This record gives sequence, C-alpha cells and structure tokens, in this order.
Amino acid sequence: MKRLSDVKRIGFGAMRLTGPGIFGPPADPAEARRVLLRAVDLGVDHIDTSDYYGPYVANDLIRETLHPYPPELVLVTKVGARRSDDGGWHPAFSPDEIRSAVHDNLGRLGVERIAAVNLRKMDGWEGSMADQWTVLAELRMQGLIGDLGLSSVSPAEVEELQQIAPVACVQNHYNLAHRQDDDFIDALNEQGIFYVPFFPLGGFNPLDVETLDGVAAKHGATSMQVALAWLLQRSPNILLIPGTSSVAHLEENLAAGRLKLDDEDLVALDKIG
Ligand SMILES: NC(=O)c1ccc[n+]([C@@H]2O[C@H](COP(=O)([O-])OP(=O)(O)OC[C@H]3O[C@@H](n4cnc5c(N)ncnc54)[C@H](OP(=O)(O)O)[C@@H]3O)[C@@H](O)[C@H]2O)c1
Repeated sequence: MKRLSDVKRIGFGAMRLTGPGIFGPPADPAEARRVLLRAVDLGVDHIDTSDYYGPYVANDLIRETLHPYPPELVLVTKVGARRSDDGGWHPAFSPDEIRSAVHDNLGRLGVERIAAVNLRKMDGWEGSMADQWTVLAELRMQGLIGDLGLSSVSPAEVEELQQIAPVACVQNHYNLAHRQDDDFIDALNEQGIFYVPFFPLGGFNPLDVETLDGVAAKHGATSMQVALAWLLQRSPNILLIPGTSSVAHLEENLAAGRLKLDDEDLVALDKIG
C-alpha cells in the first residue's frame, strides 16, 4: 500500500463535501461525487477525511463513489471527536472511543487498513495524549493503520508522543495569514515529518488580501492558486489538502502546482503573515 511519504504535494480535503456547518448531506450530492471522480481523474492520490464530517457523509460519499479504490490512493482519516444530533462537535477522546473510531472508519471507508490516522486534539483538552496515542500505536502494530499523525498539537506534544510511536505528519491550522507554526514547520522538516496545513485557503474565512490579488494578476493566476503555491514553496515537508465542493475550484487548486512564485512575490507575500 502506498504511504503518505509517496503522495503528490497537492491532495484533496473532503470536509467540504458535506452540508452547511459540516453537517448533513451536501446541497448538491451529484457535484460532490463529480468532485471526487475528477480528483482521482486528475491524479489526486491523497484524500483527507473523517467519520465526523457529516457525520459519515464524506466517508460514505468517498466509498460509494470511489470504491474499489485505485491502488495509488492514500486515504487519511482523523479521530478524536464525535457529532451530536444538533450538529455540535464533542470530544470522543477516551482510549475506547479512539479504538472504536478507527474500526468505524475502516468499515465506513470499506478498507482493511487506513494509510494514516490523525489523532485530533480537541479544544480544551489538557494533559497528555499518551493513552490515546498508545491505542493508535497498537492498532498500527496490528496492521490496521499505515502511519500515525497528530492534529492541532504543539512541538512539545510531538516530542512526547514520538517516544511511544513515530509521528509521520502534523495537521495544524496554517496559511499565508496564520503563521504561528512557522518555526514548528521548519523543525518538523528537519525531522522528516510532514506538515499538512488545514484551512490552507483560510477555511471558513477564505483569504482576502490585496497583495495576493496583485501577485495573482502578475501571473495570470487566481489568489487561491497563489496562496497554495506559496505553501508549496514555503517548505518541502508541506502537503496540501485544499477543500472544495466544486469541480471548478478543484481544477483551479490542482493547477496551482504549476505556478512558480519568484523572489519578489515571496518577499511581498511574506509581509501578509
Ligand atoms: N485537522 C483538523 O482539525 C481540520 C480542520 C479543518 C479542516 N481539515 C481538513 O483540511 C481540509 C482543508 O480545509 P478546509 O476545506 O476547511 O479549508 P480551505 O481548504 O482553506 O478552504 C475551503 C474553502 O475555500 C473555498 N475554496 C476552495 N477552493 C477555492 C477556490 N479555488 N476559489 C475560491 N474558493 C475556494 C471552499 O468553498 P467551495 O466549496 O465553494 O470551493 C471552502 O469554503 C478539509 O477539507 C479537511 O479535510 C482538518
């Protein structure tokens, strides 16, 4: 099975294939399926998802649309949260809940092994995640998981959990205008750990910065393409999973891989953060 270390720089984040508030079915399920098919058609080999998107909506769409999966497709899920009937987000962080969530994701996606699972630290969690990480390490030893990752974590947490089992990737909030992880990214790069920014385009508040528009106009590109190209050039350990519910945006985002920013662009863009 292909691993995260083998994927292309730009993948796809499936969170936007759900309804408003990442809850319930999407407004246009047929377009959601077209997005997934087009992604694979254009060579996307990395899809980021979770049972708690919908809940189950993103994973059901992925399985219904793409199963049996192309052998090169790397599916990455995350565990640590659950949804309530009113769309609320809640921690599901006990070791038993973590174990069940992995089995649920395996079943929902229709696979015997998931290429990578991220442990998502929920807001407000204090203290060590060693017990949860140990459960994931055991499931990995059983062959149910390829690689382990962490989400919304600090350098100290990565350092602690690395003692239990290797951290293959970190998924934190980062983009041109949200640069708190600058040093962290460089440190992870030195350790050979991938960094997968969530909200690469700004998430619920898409980036809207004049400098971006200027650089985009110079290259005949879009602002979103510049934001993604900047991330690709920011550090070699960055893997992208921009999310979209539209085929047009998907195609635009994937084309950002061909955009090369020059030094003048990088200096201007650096001032945004
Ligand atoms: N670990 C975590 O805690 C966590 C948290 C959030 C997300 N994630 C993962 O990270 C992925 C990326 O994050 P995200 O989807 O929230 O945020 P994002 O990629 O920063 O932005 C997605 C938003 O930008 C819009 N968009 C996408 N491409 C566009 C384009 N070319 N032009 C204009 N607008 C565009 C989308 O709307 P349209 O649908 O209209 O294109 C959507 O509203 C998610 O899909 C999910 O897999 C992880």
